[in-house]
Amino acid sequence: MDRQPVHVCFLLRVLWCVMVEAQDWHVDLPAEISALSGSCLFIPCSFTHPSSHEPSDATWYSYSSTKYPVVYSKDPTAIIEPFRGRTKLIGDVKSGNCSLNINYVVPEMNGYHLYPWIDPDKVDHKFYLNTIMLNVQEMPGAVDLYVEGEPKEDDTLRVICAVKHTCPFSPPTLSFGDTSGNVQTNQTDLGQGSWQTISIISFPGQVSDQGRPVGCWVRRQGRPTVPKWVEINLSYSPQSVHVSGETSTALVGGEVTLECRSNANPPASSFLWYLQRDGSIRELSAREMSVTVPDLPPDQSRFYCGAQNAHGVANSTSPFIVTVEYPPTIQPESCCIIQAPSLRCWCKVRAWPSASVEWRVNSGDPHSTLRDVRTVRVKLNHTFSGKLLFNGTFQITAVTCRAFNVHGEQEHSLVMKALPLDVTIVQHPTHVREGQYVTLSCMCRAFPAVLSYSWYQVQGDREVELGEQSERLHLVAVGRLMGPYRCSAMNEVGWTSSTSALVHVDFAPVISPDSFCALENGEVKYSPVGKGSLIAAVACGAVGVVLGTVSLLYCLQRTRYFEKFD
Ligand SMILES: *[C@@H]1O[C@H](CO)[C@@H](O)[C@H](O)[C@H]1NC(C)=O
Ligand SMILES: *[C@@H]1O[C@H](CO)[C@@H](O)[C@H](O)[C@H]1NC(C)=O
Ligand SMILES: *[C@@H]1O[C@H](CO)[C@@H](O)[C@H](O)[C@H]1NC(C)=O
Ligand SMILES: *[C@@H]1O[C@H](CO)[C@@H](O)[C@H](O)[C@H]1NC(C)=O
Ligand SMILES: *[C@@H]1O[C@H](CO)[C@@H](O)[C@H](O)[C@H]1NC(C)=O
Repeated sequence: MDRQPVHVCFLLRVLWCVMVEAQDWHVDLPAEISALSGSCLFIPCSFTHPSSHEPSDATWYSYSSTKYPVVYSKDPTAIIEPFRGRTKLIGDVKSGNCSLNINYVVPEMNGYHLYPWIDPDKVDHKFYLNTIMLNVQEMPGAVDLYVEGEPKEDDTLRVICAVKHTCPFSPPTLSFGDTSGNVQTNQTDLGQGSWQTISIISFPGQVSDQGRPVGCWVRRQGRPTVPKWVEINLSYSPQSVHVSGETSTALVGGEVTLECRSNANPPASSFLWYLQRDGSIRELSAREMSVTVPDLPPDQSRFYCGAQNAHGVANSTSPFIVTVEYPPTIQPESCCIIQAPSLRCWCKVRAWPSASVEWRVNSGDPHSTLRDVRTVRVKLNHTFSGKLLFNGTFQITAVTCRAFNVHGEQEHSLVMKALPLDVTIVQHPTHVREGQYVTLSCMCRAFPAVLSYSWYQVQGDREVELGEQSERLHLVAVGRLMGPYRCSAMNEVGWTSSTSALVHVDFAPVISPDSFCALENGEVKYSPVGKGSLIAAVACGAVGVVLGTVSLLYCLQRTRYFEKFD
C-alpha cells in the first residue's frame, strides 16, 4: 500500500525528466551574419541544456556532411584555416553563453556555416542542425549621416552619424572633425549579431551654418578612415536684403530694372518695394522679386525692398540710388541786373550732371570793358548759377547764356533788369492857387515794374515818411510854401529816389518890405528881396517914372520859390 504513491511519483518524474530532456538542448544563434572583411565579428550564442547536464566547455565546428572541422577549440592546433588564431569563445558556457568572437574576418571565411557543440565528448545532441552562415563583405555598410528634423534658425541642430557593425568589443569610432558641439555616443544592440554605433553632435543653429558641410569620420578596424558629409539645411527668415540693379544712372523718362536679393531659406517668395524721393517714402505696387520702374523722374530715386518667406520679413537697410540725368534747363528767373557801373547776370541752370555755362555779350560799345567774368556754382536743387560782373562804362544790348552737359544744351537770352530810372515828381494840375487840391505823381521808367512807392516830406529840419505807398500823393488845401516833397520807387532790383520838389502854388503878389529901387547908370534896378531865394519876377503892366516908393507901383507879380533840399 505504501509503494503505490512511490511508483506514481517515479513515473511522473521520469515523464518530467523526458520532457525536460527533449526541450533543454536548444541553441539560439542567428541564421546568417554579415561581417566586413578585416573587421571583427561577434557571434551571439546562447543555449539551454538539460538540468542533468552541467555544461563546462564548447567547441565550434564548420558544418560538413562528412567531417567535423574545428573552428574553435581549446586546442589551437585542431583549428582549421582560415579560423586558426582568430577565434575565441567569449561566452560563459556554464551560464549558457556560447558566444564566439572572430577577431579578424578574412574573405576566405565567406560561406562557412558554423555551429557550437557543448561538451562534444559528453553530449550526444545534433547541434549541427542549427548553424550560422558567414557572409563576408568587402565594402563597409553605409554610414547613416543626417540632420535631425527640419531645423530653424536658433534651434539646436542635431547631426546624427550612425554605423552598423559586428564588433561590440572594438566598435568603430565616430568623430565630427572640426565641428564643435556637444557629442554623445551610444552603442545599440540591434539583435541577431548586429550593432549600431550612434554619435550625435548638437550645437545652436546659426544662419551662417546654412549649407555648411558636416563630416563624420568613421574609423573601423582595419579600414582607412573616410569622412562622409552632410550639408546643413537650416530654414531662416530673409537676411542681407538688398536691392541690386544693372545700372545706377538713367536718363530722365527712362526705366530701370531692379532685383530684391536676399539670403533666405526657403527663398523669399513675396517682396515689397519702396521708393524714397525728396525725403518721403512710398510703397510701390510691385510684389515681384524683379521690378521695372518706368518714367524715371529727374534727380535721385532711392529704392528699398522687403523680402518675405514663411519665417519672416526683412527690409533692405541701405537704398539703391538711381541717379536720373537730364539735359540743362535754364530757369526763367535767370536775368541780368544793371546797377551802374556794373552788371550782374545770373544763369540758373537745372542739369544733371552739372552743366557748363557760357556767356555771349552783345555790346554796342566796342570799348566797354568786361572786367570780371565768373562762374559761380550753387549746388542747390541741382541748380547752377553763372555770374557775370562788368565794370566801367558799358552799353550792353543783350546777354545770352548757353548751358550744356552730355545730354544736351539750352540757350537763353537773359532779361535785363534795372533800378527804376528817371524818378521825378509831376504836379497836377500844374497851377493851383492856395487852398486848392493838388496831386503829386511819382513818375519813372522801370523794368521790372515798380512794386511800391514811398513819399517823404521835409518838416522842420528832418524828413518824415508819409503813409502813402501808391504812385499818387493827394494834397488838400495847399499852402504857399508846402514841401519840399520827395518820392522813391521800388522794384525787385531796388529803389531810386526823386529830387525834392516844392508844390507850385500861385498866389497874389506880396511885395517884400525890403524891396527898393535904385538908379544905376540911368537904369532902374529893382530888387525884390526875399530871404535870398525868393525871386519876384515882375511883369509891370505900366512902368511908371520911378518917383516916390516902390509900393506905389501897380504890378502883377509871379513868384517862384526855388530851393534845393538835397
Ligand atoms: C555572452 O557573453 C558575452 C561576453 O561576456 C556578453 O557580451 C553577452 O551579453 C552574453 N550573452 C548573453 C545572452 O548573456
Ligand atoms: C544614449 O545613452 C544615454 C545614457 O547612456 C541616454 O540618455 C540617451 O538617450 C541615449 N541616446 C540615444 C540616442 O539612444
Ligand atoms: C520696411 O519698411 C517699410 C517702409 O519704411 C516699413 O513700413 C515696414 O514696417 C518695414 N518692415 C520691417 C519688417 O522693418
Ligand atoms: C527743385 O526744382 C524743382 C523744379 O524746378 C521744383 O519743383 C522744386 O520745388 C525745387 N525744390 C527746391 C527745394 O527748391
Ligand atoms: C570798378 O571800376 C572802378 C573804376 O573804374 C573801380 O574803382 C572799382 O573798384 C571797380 N570795381 C570792381 C568790382 O572791379
